[in-house]
Amino acid sequence: MPCIAHISDLHFGYNDPLLVDALRQSLWQIKPDALAVSGDLVEHATIREFEQARDFLQSLPKPQIVVPGNHDLPFYNLWLRAIEGLRNFRRYISDDPTPTYVDEHVAVIGFESAHHFPVKGGKITEQQLESIVQRFAALPDCLIRVLVTHHPFDLPAPATARSLIGHSRLAVRRLAPVVDVLLAGHIHISSSGSTSSRYKTRNHAMVFVQAGTAVSNRHKGETNSFNVLHTGRSAEGEKQVKIDRYAWDQGPSQFTCHRSLEFRLGKEGWAQVRHLSAH
Ligand SMILES: [Fe+2]
Ligand SMILES: [Fe+2]
Repeated sequence: MPCIAHISDLHFGYNDPLLVDALRQSLWQIKPDALAVSGDLVEHATIREFEQARDFLQSLPKPQIVVPGNHDLPFYNLWLRAIEGLRNFRRYISDDPTPTYVDEHVAVIGFESAHHFPVKGGKITEQQLESIVQRFAALPDCLIRVLVTHHPFDLPAPATARSLIGHSRLAVRRLAPVVDVLLAGHIHISSSGSTSSRYKTRNHAMVFVQAGTAVSNRHKGETNSFNVLHTGRSAEGEKQVKIDRYAWDQGPSQFTCHRSLEFRLGKEGWAQVRHLSAH
């Protein structure tokens, strides 16, 4: 089964070196077809932090689809944020605003939801939204189409719209017919589900997948984690995605798979089919 690893919110500057080494080791064991990195690579957007993040990414499997988060612009100094923006991210990490990976099974495209303003929240401009829809609509329908942003379009209840990307309802209505899976971070709490619970988009629903913080000590009451997505087809020929959530295990000092969820594309869109296992 083709496999995409999804890590997020590395926050170099507030990272744990033990976790950095363990994550690298896990990813080389998994050997994904592609690696999605959904933003907040650094904490203060300093050159030193970006150098650390760059060196780490260079030591991981490729190809990589990397998008910036709100911390990848100077976050605590608004004057600097306005002057520098994504300059250091572009210089040290990636100068591609729409990183793309396409093979015969899957298409993964990243878009930037972190802008100068809002400082913490994210947005997709009308121009970006049009570009996303066009890019995904041009792809063969047989592919599983994955959009990577830093800020989430959906989260499980009781999260409110304030936690989501700006104008998320409008965006989801446009995206749902042409996108299968949404990968994001920012919240530092992992989750996955169908957008059908929050958004009533007739005959269309996407899978949303949130990664926790992979290697930083900025966890919000949840241990460090990352995701591995396995994409394929069910026996009935439906598109399917299995999401393995790897979490940090203090005892053996390694990331282990703690939960697997499976989603399939039916007549009403993507829905969770069953809970596979609790490791
Ligand atoms: Fe973050
Ligand atoms: Fe963030």
